[in-house]
Amino acid sequence: MRDSVASLLHVEGLTVRYGAGPVVHGVSFSMAPETVGALLGANGAGKSSTLRAIAGLEPAQGSVRFQGEDISSLSAAERFRAGIVYVPEGRAIVADLSVSENLTLGGYFFDSATRDRRRRMVLDFFPEIANRLHSPAGLLSGGEQQMLAIGRGLMSAPKLILLDEPSLGLAPLLVARVYERLALIRKEQGLAALLVEQSFHAAAKLASRAWVMRHGHVVGELDAQALGSREGRQRAIDAYLGARQEDAALAV
Ligand SMILES: Nc1ncnc2c1ncn2[C@@H]1O[C@H](COP(=O)(O)OP(=O)(O)O)[C@@H](O)[C@H]1O
Ligand SMILES: [Mg+2]
Repeated sequence: MRDSVASLLHVEGLTVRYGAGPVVHGVSFSMAPETVGALLGANGAGKSSTLRAIAGLEPAQGSVRFQGEDISSLSAAERFRAGIVYVPEGRAIVADLSVSENLTLGGYFFDSATRDRRRRMVLDFFPEIANRLHSPAGLLSGGEQQMLAIGRGLMSAPKLILLDEPSLGLAPLLVARVYERLALIRKEQGLAALLVEQSFHAAAKLASRAWVMRHGHVVGELDAQALGSREGRQRAIDAYLGARQEDAALAV
């Protein structure tokens, strides 16, 4: 059965457990097509578990609808083929393979002409890695590895890219550069993305809607206006998270 086209991704009552109690408790939210959403929250809030469950990488209860179809029972590989790409935290590239080989892996199922076209598009967005094509990926800097991880995700021409903490471990200047490129990719490719971030500041540059997670629950939602102003962000942080000091990292 199809929903209205209003929603690209609709998550309803998503619950993830690793043994004992759930770490994601009945999370629900919706994303419109060609938008960027963000899951924000402190370390341990359940952001990555939510993202991985959407990608089909963690068993979960509840439903995930993508482009109107219920994909809850699809495997991770089937969700990937449906157009959902997950870029894990920590820049998981294959260190021993070259930059070029890593990109090939991302689009392995395309014919070589399509793959070459995608590769040119990716390298246009990330010129930093274009002249490192034959270097082992493990020799790239942290920022370049993040660009490669995102670029590899883009090789498959996804409809939705799930980005787990793209700013993690990067110097502020590089975070700005990675986000600048993501904004350009979004503009030129009409790509939808769901970001996970601990930093409101980084995510607010790109996302038009954000959900604040705490202890496995969505405890607040921010619209573009709240995300766009420092006061709005701070009010939301104070209102949703209570003690400001406790989640100081969120306000950076
Ligand atoms: N594979 C796992 N096995 C057991 N517990 C896990 C696993 N992954 C995450 N957790 C726990 O689930 C909770 C949420 O983790 P996570 O989703 O990684 O949060 P976040 O991405 O917001 O930091 C944490 O308490 C974490 O320790
Ligand atoms: Mg995480």
